[in-house]
Amino acid sequence: MKFFVDTADVEAIRDLNDLGMADGVTTNPSLILKSGRDILEVTKEICGIVSGPVSAEVVALTADEMIAEGRKLAEIAPNIAVKVPLTWDGLKTCKVLTGEGHMVNVTLCFSANQALLAAKAGATFISPFIGRLDDINLDGLDLISDIRTIYDNYGFDTQILAASIRTANHVAQCAMIGADVVTAPPAVIKSLANHVLTDKGLDQFMQDWAKTGQTIL
Ligand code: E4P
Repeated sequence: MKFFVDTADVEAIRDLNDLGMADGVTTNPSLILKSGRDILEVTKEICGIVSGPVSAEVVALTADEMIAEGRKLAEIAPNIAVKVPLTWDGLKTCKVLTGEGHMVNVTLCFSANQALLAAKAGATFISPFIGRLDDINLDGLDLISDIRTIYDNYGFDTQILAASIRTANHVAQCAMIGADVVTAPPAVIKSLANHVLTDKGLDQFMQDWAKTGQTIL
């Protein structure tokens, strides 16, 4: 399973990329706002750090304008994936831009039928939002599972990019279900290394080692 980093924080991306933990990056208008940076400038910088897909989102609402914005974003670097919302205009944009050879990430997906439409429109990635479904007392992981079944039933090659990941459990469950990618904030990716028994075991080893009076170097 691939890890994308869900942030426009360049230092956090560089840090995870150095460890081989950043197979790509996803951004959205809220993350651009949080970064305080110009979208074209920060996206170009991110594309220079990671070699995998970097999602940059259009902000227009009509297909003609989305297509124009998408083409401009795609000029930033060859690894741009143009991110479009799951609306009819977004789907039209997806069809046109993938036809031109661009990667397209269809975002704000909250149902299996929406994911089916995105695949039929030729999306490179579908982004179902797990956390936001959990927020309204639905099970976001059930949606990942449903989409996996549908895509496998019909051999769609659209990649399931599980988004709105809030917990380490979301990541493990997505891997079990067979999501192609998870995109998660840097803090969630780093939290995957944590386990209380690792901390406890290390503490015991350090105490015992101190009692040996030895050194390695
Ligand atoms: C995905 O591409 C989105 O940028 C992101 O995962 C949304 O996450 P949130 O619901 O935590 O804002």
